[in-house]
Amino acid sequence: MKNFRVHFWSFGVILFFVFSCSSEDANPDLNGNNQNSYIPLKELFKDHFFVGAAITPAHTDIRTPHGRTLVEHFNSVTAENVMKPDAIQRIKGTFTWTEADRIVQFAKENNMKVRGHTLTWHSQTPDWFFFDQTGALLSKDIALKQLEEHITAVMTRYRGMIDSWDVVNEALFDWDPDGQIIYREDSPWYKIIGESYIDSAFVYAHRADPDAKLFYNDYNSIFSWKRNKIFDLVKRLKDNNIPIHGIGLQGHWFVGTSVEDLRTTLELFRGLGVEIQITELDLSVYLSSNEPGSVVYTDEFNTRQRIAYPEIFRVLLDYSDAIAGVTFWGIGDDASWLDTPGRKHFPFLLNEQLQPKPAYFDVQRLLRR
Ligand code: XIL
Repeated sequence: MKNFRVHFWSFGVILFFVFSCSSEDANPDLNGNNQNSYIPLKELFKDHFFVGAAITPAHTDIRTPHGRTLVEHFNSVTAENVMKPDAIQRIKGTFTWTEADRIVQFAKENNMKVRGHTLTWHSQTPDWFFFDQTGALLSKDIALKQLEEHITAVMTRYRGMIDSWDVVNEALFDWDPDGQIIYREDSPWYKIIGESYIDSAFVYAHRADPDAKLFYNDYNSIFSWKRNKIFDLVKRLKDNNIPIHGIGLQGHWFVGTSVEDLRTTLELFRGLGVEIQITELDLSVYLSSNEPGSVVYTDEFNTRQRIAYPEIFRVLLDYSDAIAGVTFWGIGDDASWLDTPGRKHFPFLLNEQLQPKPAYFDVQRLLRR
């Protein structure tokens, strides 16, 4: 009898797993939060776009929860920091590849794409790119030559291994409702060279790897004051036959971010005939930067994300003919660049234990056939 009971019990357990795994909808709890019924992100979106994560080299260890989660959910990775100029060429002429190589190797072993991030930026770029030893700005010729050497070295090393590159990052002025100031004029690139450094960077990049897709990447891209500048810039580059293939919308958004602005922007950019990618998605639980911080994922935060996340993905799916990929700027809520002491942003679809959050299931339901 005892044996029978044990067998009966294990049979029940087996039945439970068979049924809960066989259908994504089996047995959802009230939050739609059934741990057994999720579909990995890369599977969920496989007919629409690739799904990426920004990572550190440590995340590539598949014996760790992060490594396993990457392999389970994502089919693309971006180096969160280790491919930036200050990581690869901190000292002029001395290239440090170890960390970036680890990420590229991991992607290769696991059949993932890599987004290269980033080649030309005012931030996380060593001073020697811009200044001489007296602290004076370099000449235009020297700065361009150094930029060309950097882009050529990095893109040559990863030729054929990196699908798309953020060639120029955040070159446009951010807050200017009247549209008077176009470029980020305090960028040393702009100060030394003027707007044509953007054109040059794309030309160098195309020469270094003619097969790589070349992107202009920026934040706040969905707001009217910025999206028109991005549109004008990309149109000008295309009209001048500068090789540019895509626009990266970073996607550092708040739960209150307007999906109508997102839709308008996708509509506008699609008209340029370039590929679009969401490159750095994180959706902060706060309504704005002024809201007081919390280190607890409250019911209110949960509700907000359950509304905002599916709204955003609804729009992304509507434009999936133009969107090639969606990359999150991290993996799960345990770590985000947005977090500060006393203020966590919980910006992802995976929670601090790297498990699907209720918002994940709401997004998943959009794909239900
Ligand atoms: C951030 C990283 O996440 C941080 O770890 C680092 O300290 C600063 O940069 N836009 C970009 C990314 O293009 O490179 C930035 O990444 C986030 C904003």
